[in-house]
Amino acid sequence: MTTAIMPLTYDKEILKLIDQRLLPTEEVYITTRTIEDCYRAICDMIVRGAPLIGFTGIWGMALFVKHNPKATFEQFERAAEYLKSARPTAVNLAFEIDRCVEMARLETHMSALYPKLVQHAKTEMNNLYEKNLSMAKFAEAELQKIYGDRPLNVMTICNTGVLACGVLGTALGVIIHLNNQKKVKMVYASETRPYLQGSRLTSFELLKEGIDHRIVVEGAASYLMRNKLVDAIFAGADRIVENGDTANKIGTSSLSIIAKYYGIPFYIVAPTSSFDLNLKTGDQIEIELRDQSEILKFKEHNIAHPDAKALNPSFDVTDHTCITGIICENGVIAPTSPAIVRSVVEKK
Ligand code: MRU
Repeated sequence: MTTAIMPLTYDKEILKLIDQRLLPTEEVYITTRTIEDCYRAICDMIVRGAPLIGFTGIWGMALFVKHNPKATFEQFERAAEYLKSARPTAVNLAFEIDRCVEMARLETHMSALYPKLVQHAKTEMNNLYEKNLSMAKFAEAELQKIYGDRPLNVMTICNTGVLACGVLGTALGVIIHLNNQKKVKMVYASETRPYLQGSRLTSFELLKEGIDHRIVVEGAASYLMRNKLVDAIFAGADRIVENGDTANKIGTSSLSIIAKYYGIPFYIVAPTSSFDLNLKTGDQIEIELRDQSEILKFKEHNIAHPDAKALNPSFDVTDHTCITGIICENGVIAPTSPAIVRSVVEKK
């Protein structure tokens, strides 16, 4: 079964984004018409997930040139820096916007860029489907080597499906593909505090796909692994650096450490646009700190005492030594080392 969720559509100079803050109870689309609207949609997490905020970045730059057809290259560059600053950790946003800047550099008249950016955004989204599928097939082959063809219990964190990518998905794309091959017994979806991407979004996608799953609290990871309820773990990525250290949703690192302790294979699944080979180790990744209210309140209701304070890092860095393999569209990086990361990512 394929999901009917369309997180992003573009028509007649309007980018419509499903408001992911309201899912799964309400399916409401937000209309964005300007680069500023796109910036706010990314900051406020109306749109989220590394690949999808990257695509929103391209559409945002397209809307900028549509409304500023006489802009100079310097003005385009400034607009690009502004949009890139919406969220710092996922490299996909900067990756996609930097490519728009390279396209702009070649233009004499900015107005000619608009149709090219629109086409570019559509092509990139279509290409990601093929890339996601190829990652899913690499993952299937990896599991085959370990477990043969038996249906597996798998675990995931955050949301890495169509709501995060616009198409199939990375880690969740693997799970959907495995399920299509009748190789999934049970999925454990980590609820993913504080924004609850797991309980709200991943479970919603799994329900649409008809995949049996259980939402679990983050603290259940050790219970599940000690009791042999998990055969493999798949997570996405917001930024993977040269040595394989990977920034992903807060809680991913602890999951990987527990998996290493119990000897459970732990995979990162991400397209090559999620790699940042300019950084050598995960210590160099900027981690987004989000508003404390995401922890202290549930919707408008206080959970903690009104005077309580919280610290809300949105991502953490999973050490490459805790990763069994990083799966991208070019193949599997295992073990993770700078030389192997480069050779697989830069493979043409
Ligand atoms: O804060 P979010 O919801 O944008 O965080 C998303 C994640 O951490 C995902 O795991 C990651 O972007 C990969 S999405 C394919």
